Amino acid sequence: MKRRLLQPEILIEALPYIREFTGKPFVVKLGGSTLLDEAQCTRIAGDIALLKLVGIQLVVVHGGGKHINEMLQRLGIQNEFKNGLRVTNEETMRIVEMVLSGRSNKDIVTLINRYGGKALGISGKDGPLIRALPYTDANGGTYGQVGIIESVAGDVIEHLLTGGFIPVISPVAYGEGGRSYNLNADHAASRIAQAICAKKLIYLSDIPGVLRDPRDPGTLISELGALEAEALIADGTISGGMLPKIQSIVECLRHGVEKVHIISGLEPHALLLEIFTNGGIGTEFHAAL
Ligand SMILES: Nc1ncnc2c1ncn2[C@@H]1O[C@H](COP(=O)(O)OP(=O)(O)OP(=O)(O)O)[C@@H](O)[C@H]1O
Ligand SMILES: [Mg+2]
Repeated sequence: MKRRLLQPEILIEALPYIREFTGKPFVVKLGGSTLLDEAQCTRIAGDIALLKLVGIQLVVVHGGGKHINEMLQRLGIQNEFKNGLRVTNEETMRIVEMVLSGRSNKDIVTLINRYGGKALGISGKDGPLIRALPYTDANGGTYGQVGIIESVAGDVIEHLLTGGFIPVISPVAYGEGGRSYNLNADHAASRIAQAICAKKLIYLSDIPGVLRDPRDPGTLISELGALEAEALIADGTISGGMLPKIQSIVECLRHGVEKVHIISGLEPHALLLEIFTNGGIGTEFHAAL
């Protein structure tokens, strides 16, 4: 890696990509697992600041599930999951909001700003950027303040981008009467990408991409289309945290986002490698396939 970074050719290789992407909106979703290690998070923040400096209109959306679990445990509050979703009563929602919109959001903002990136942290409640309704599953089951996105006000983000800021968005939404709703961050990133007609949506997670066998990193699928991705859901290859990611990817490919990538946030400078080099990493999704 070090040798590669020292090669001046890498800047020349990046040139056509910089020319193509400058001025274009990109959405980057930072998975909670990429936020756990400070050194790693610092590297990602540096990459984000650099992408902004070369003119990419970056928007960051983040998760933070593991930090929420840690805090609930520390406070002795029961953590209840139903069908993979956190059942969110009023007390839990207060903690979710405090952790996501407070700790996680401000940690990311601070790291990017240390690189001179002009990051500005907001939640989906500010603006209000994201309006949500209570989520109900196919069997009529409810999950307290777990929300489903009703609408995204893209103009809130566009104003921030025009001002030269990097919006950093926590997945908490505004509901009826000002009630807070806990959103799946993958869905939030996808809906935001659709609302601002993003050129690319990149998910940074803790796996190299979509794996044919989730226990074997050697089974990476490097390219996928919307139909193929749906087939992988149907045959059970995709489960757990990968499920909302793939569902939201299929949705945004069908709503005008050109390219979506899942890459490993654990790999140093994965964002730069994906965007600026000829050899892509992770899984790339195309609308056309
Ligand atoms: N086919 C698959 N390929 C890769 N990962 C898979 C697959 N099926 C299930 N997974 C799981 O999906 C996980 C990634 O989703 P997860 O929700 O845990 O991370 P994230 O979305 O990056 O973080 P957060 O939810 O905190 O924002 C992987 O760690 C893996 O366990
Ligand atoms: Mg997830």
